[in-house]
Amino acid sequence: MIFIKSDEEIKIMRECGTLLAEMYDYLAPYVQPGISALELDKLAENFIRKNGAVPEQKGYKGFPSTLCVSINEQVIHGIPSRRTLKEGDLASLDCTISLKGLMTDSARTFPVGKLDKKHQLLMERTEKSLYLGIDAVRAGVRVNEIGKAVEDYIKPFGYGIVRDYCGHGVGYEIHEEPTVLNYYSTRYRQRLKENMVITVEPMINLGSDYVKVLGDQWTVETEDKKASCHFEHTIVVTKEGCEILTLK
Ligand code: MF3
Ligand code: CO
Ligand code: CO
Repeated sequence: MIFIKSDEEIKIMRECGTLLAEMYDYLAPYVQPGISALELDKLAENFIRKNGAVPEQKGYKGFPSTLCVSINEQVIHGIPSRRTLKEGDLASLDCTISLKGLMTDSARTFPVGKLDKKHQLLMERTEKSLYLGIDAVRAGVRVNEIGKAVEDYIKPFGYGIVRDYCGHGVGYEIHEEPTVLNYYSTRYRQRLKENMVITVEPMINLGSDYVKVLGDQWTVETEDKKASCHFEHTIVVTKEGCEILTLK
């Protein structure tokens, strides 16, 4: 079942999403060569708790940290470690937090120093595909129009669109219905309604779309070890379109 949030619930989620956007702005200047993912994780957790929110990923199905930090060929769900970032890395950060029991979820790929051209383009185009997916949203539109918009834009570049992971409803749980694929499929085609809250989160690979989970049971990597980018927003469906909750 897809939950419809009340205006009161949306109000809390808006506050939660703004805080998550502020967390990324706070972290951004720290994402530099030499910092470790574990240090970023500590900064994030302190920021979240200081602002009265809860880091919901920590302890979720045994995940140990506040942030997912996925570097280069790591796609999602990277566990923060002492490994330090280096010039030219792509660092994808993902975080879910809650305020008053209601969650928002957002991810961003950060460039570490200067990227080479192909990685810079992959990053820019992945972010653009997120916004094109979001632009497809309006009450009455089918959820698979989002994936179609992402795919129509990304396919001509020859990138791999990750098929094994996707966007989702969000609110009282990290993952609620519906499933929001990043490619066109008739499998999920519910109509979006006003006040549904979902994430859009394209994961785009420089090479093939094939991914595998590492032995730590979490980290998802590209099979060909080529780089991957990930951008995610939590949005609420409106009559005319949608509102992005995880922006300031
Ligand atoms: N934030 C992730 C998502 O976009 C969920 C992370 S699961 C965790 O769906 F266990 F790594 F936290
Ligand atoms: Co996320
Ligand atoms: Co998500």
